[in-house]
Amino acid sequence: MRLSVTELCNLRCRYCMPEEGICKKDHAQMLTEDEMITAVEAAASLGIRKLRITGGEPLVKKNIVSICRRAAAVEGIQEVCLTTNGILLPRMAKDLREAGVKRLNLSLDTLDPAKYAYITRIGTLEDFWTGFHAALDAGFEKVKINAVLIGGFNDDEILSLAELTRQYPVDMRFIEMMPMYDSGDFREASFVPYTRVLEALPHAQAVPADGGVAKLYRLPGAMGNIGLISPLNAHFCGTCNRIRLTADGKIKPCLHSADEYSLKGLDFDGMKAELEKAIWNKPQWHGDLDAVNRSKAGRNMNQIGG
Ligand code: GTP
Ligand code: 5AD
Ligand code: SF4
Repeated sequence: MRLSVTELCNLRCRYCMPEEGICKKDHAQMLTEDEMITAVEAAASLGIRKLRITGGEPLVKKNIVSICRRAAAVEGIQEVCLTTNGILLPRMAKDLREAGVKRLNLSLDTLDPAKYAYITRIGTLEDFWTGFHAALDAGFEKVKINAVLIGGFNDDEILSLAELTRQYPVDMRFIEMMPMYDSGDFREASFVPYTRVLEALPHAQAVPADGGVAKLYRLPGAMGNIGLISPLNAHFCGTCNRIRLTADGKIKPCLHSADEYSLKGLDFDGMKAELEKAIWNKPQWHGDLDAVNRSKAGRNMNQIGG
């Protein structure tokens, strides 16, 4: 289960959320920390073993360390992982590790400071690298870097981003951009197929998958893998075992479907029943997705958590 703890973010990535940010929802609509933990307990009772904490940006949530610690202690949960833009890691990485977060995924779309400032609208690449080194120093079992592939923006950086796996003990994943409700005005040419990554990396060798959604490869002499996440050009819906819980308490059985099941205000049994319903109603696939056929999620990525 992917648990989004907030829709808010300290960056404004162009494919993820609008420039003005989002209108802050009424506190009463959002899940409380106790409700989040009850939802994790209900999910664990149904056999869910892995939890990924997402956002928005999860580290802007005031009680994030407590949420992670309590979620990691839920019986049946074997692994709590977290996806972050990394900016707040210098002050939080050690506390998160100590709270029981095992693995971290960090977002980085470019190695060029001006392009980083452009794509995130308000971020600086220097802050990313400080956060990245804090993550490495904190001793997580695994650190992965995510880059969203964007034609005409970073498709000329595939090799240099991939080289990070030879410089650091990290995986580098390239993600096909998913056309969300309001994810910028990216045109057809912005949607780069995952096969372009393999063309740029002729020496990459296929290696077995790690249970995630990425197809894995490795460069000679590398410390980590190259991952390809291809929701558009080779969708993996047939083996999808994920459900998502949004910060406002909606279970989404599929990232790109409008179907939602509300857990807000329910007790353990009520949440368990809704979770079961959502799981039985997972759609077969997310339907065509491209520049024209956009996601039917009815939300932007920051309101789902990826
Ligand atoms: P691992 O546990 O390391 O495999 O993490 P992850 O890849 O599931 O998580 P992360 O938050 O790093 O997500 C990376 C990208 O994969 C994001 O763009 C997600 O939206 C995308 N992704 C993850 N799971 C799914 C899925 O089930 N369907 C689709 N379409 N995309 C997904
Ligand atoms: N398409 C693909 N990936 C996206 N992400 C955010 N928005 C999109 C999108 N429209 C990525 C972020 C982060 C991960 C959780 O999802 O870059 O790494
Ligand atoms: Fe924030 Fe992540 Fe969305 Fe960028 S992709 S705006 S870092 S939630």
